[in-house]
Amino acid sequence: MAAAEDQRPGRRVALVTGASSGIGAATARILAREHATTPILIARREERLRALAEELGGGATYLAVDLVDDGAPARAAAHVREHHGRLDLLVNNAGASWRGSFSESGWDGLRRHMELNFDAVARLTEVLLPILRESAPSAIVNVSSTAARVSRGRTGAYSASKAALAAWSDGLYLEERPHDVHVGVVLPGFVATEGFPQGELPNLIVSNPETAARAIVDAGLNGRAERYVPRPYWLVAALRVIAPGLVRRVLAAGAGGRLTTTTGPDSQTD
Ligand SMILES: NC(=O)c1ccc[n+]([C@@H]2O[C@H](COP(=O)([O-])OP(=O)(O)OC[C@H]3O[C@@H](n4cnc5c(N)ncnc54)[C@H](OP(=O)(O)O)[C@@H]3O)[C@@H](O)[C@H]2O)c1
Repeated sequence: MAAAEDQRPGRRVALVTGASSGIGAATARILAREHATTPILIARREERLRALAEELGGGATYLAVDLVDDGAPARAAAHVREHHGRLDLLVNNAGASWRGSFSESGWDGLRRHMELNFDAVARLTEVLLPILRESAPSAIVNVSSTAARVSRGRTGAYSASKAALAAWSDGLYLEERPHDVHVGVVLPGFVATEGFPQGELPNLIVSNPETAARAIVDAGLNGRAERYVPRPYWLVAALRVIAPGLVRRVLAAGAGGRLTTTTGPDSQTD
C-alpha cells in the first residue's frame, strides 16, 4: 500500500537508478536530506541499496534489479504504484562504460552500451511516464555525459549511447512540456566514482559525485533543460562545434589517449 507520508503536501517521491554508488547515491542523499523527498533506490546490488535506504529513512524504498532485464520496467512501475502511489522525479542515472576500439569489441560492444545507457532508460521511462503525468508537475533527468558531445578513441560506443540519450531527451522535453513533465539532461565531465575512478587524470580536472548530484537536482527541481557539470565543460562541447578540426588534431596528437581512463567495468572479469 502507498505510504501516507508520500501524499503529504510538500513531499516528493523520486526514483533514482544507479543509486548503489557514485553520482546516484549522492543524488538520493541530497534529495532526501535537503528536499523533503522520499527516494526509491534502484540498482543491482541489494545490500548497498538496503544500507542506503536505512541510512536515509523517511520511507525510502529500494528495488534490486538489472535494468537490462526484460521484466525490469514492469517491476519498477509496480513498485512505485504499490509503495508510493506517485512519482515526482525520475533520475535515469544508471550507466557504465567498457573501453575498447570498434575493431576489438565490434557490434557487441556497441549493443552492450546501448542496452544499458539508452534502451534501458527509454524502457523504464515508457512505463513510468503515465505515473509522472498523473503526478505532474513532475520531472525526468537523464544523465548523459560530456562524452556525448566529444568522442575519443576506445570510447566511441559509450559516446554513441550517451549522444542518443541526449538527443532523445531534447525531443522528449518538447513533447512532455504540455503535460507539465519537465525533461532535463545532465552532461557530467570527469567525476571520480567506482565506475569511473579517473585515477590517470590530474585532480584539477576531476570533480566529485556530490557536485554532479547537485546539477541533477538542479535540473530536476529547478526546470533546467541542460546542465554541464562542472559547468566549464560546456566549453569543450562548444569547441567541438566551433572548431572541429582543432579538437580532432588535439585528440589525435595524444590528448584523446591520455583522457581515456580505465573504468570500473573494465576491471571486472564477466
Ligand atoms: N563518473 C564520471 O566521470 C561520469 C561522467 C559522465 C557521465 N557519467 C554517468 O553518470 C552515471 C553514474 O555513473 P557513476 O560515475 O556514478 O558510476 P558508478 O559509481 O559506477 O554508478 C553506476 C550505477 O549504475 C548501476 N548500474 C550499472 N549497471 C546496471 C544495471 N544493469 N542495472 C541496474 N543498475 C546498474 C550501478 O549499480 P549496480 O552495480 O549495483 O547495479 C551503480 O549504482 C552513469 O550513467 C555514467 O555514464 C559518469
